[in-house]
Amino acid sequence: MRIAVLRDYQSLSERAAALVSARIGKKPTAVLGLATGSTPLGLYRELVKAAQRGLVDFSGVTTFNLDEYYPIERESPQSYYYYMQQHFWGPLGICPGRAHIPDGRAGDIAGVCSDYEQKIMDAGGIDLQILGIGVNGHIGFNEPGAALSAKTHLASLSAETIAANSRFFEDRDAVPRRAISMGLGTIMKAREILLLASGSEKARAIGETVRGKLTTEVPASLLQAHPRVTVMVDRAAACCLR
Ligand code: F6R
Repeated sequence: MRIAVLRDYQSLSERAAALVSARIGKKPTAVLGLATGSTPLGLYRELVKAAQRGLVDFSGVTTFNLDEYYPIERESPQSYYYYMQQHFWGPLGICPGRAHIPDGRAGDIAGVCSDYEQKIMDAGGIDLQILGIGVNGHIGFNEPGAALSAKTHLASLSAETIAANSRFFEDRDAVPRRAISMGLGTIMKAREILLLASGSEKARAIGETVRGKLTTEVPASLLQAHPRVTVMVDRAAACCLR
């Protein structure tokens, strides 16, 4: 694991954007795996700015999001589809055929999950997967537990995740209890991984991810077994790494 500690959230976002832009510069048809939530917002803002200045070109890029709540309508402002449209696909003008996200409205969940895996394979696999991390060490919606799913699946959100994500909803009861998420195997197959974390509330999870044992109780710790991972954190999130 390569660890980069940045001064603050803005520096983290700029450095992450530089890494993503460099990879697209090298491979204009790159396949990106994308996360939602608060952490990558700065990265997306910096990438949109760079694209508007002509410093990076997303016209050949294909994207696959990690997850989507289930059930949820695409038009719901809390859906990850809406988030991506708002912060990334929309401003960059990414063509809908190239921007993928699990369908949170689906009736046939097993079909949606196997289709998603197939689409990733058909696109040639993920070149660069961007990840955030939960306070409990989850990545995607792969929550701590005795076992983890390898492939895209219907996941149950932990009580910690429901509490953390309730800030985006009216109250805790409004948070969907389930989500469709890539599995640990889907994530580990990416050729490169960039894990981002900001703020002291992520410090324990980052410490366990980087320095701890590999355990399904901290899903992100399994990233230690991946050959090409960069963990980019700000100083607050790095405080357990000293
Ligand atoms: C979101 C996702 C989650 C988040 C994590 C951190 O697509 O997969 O694993 O990355 O919950 O969320 P924030 O960045 O809001 O703290």
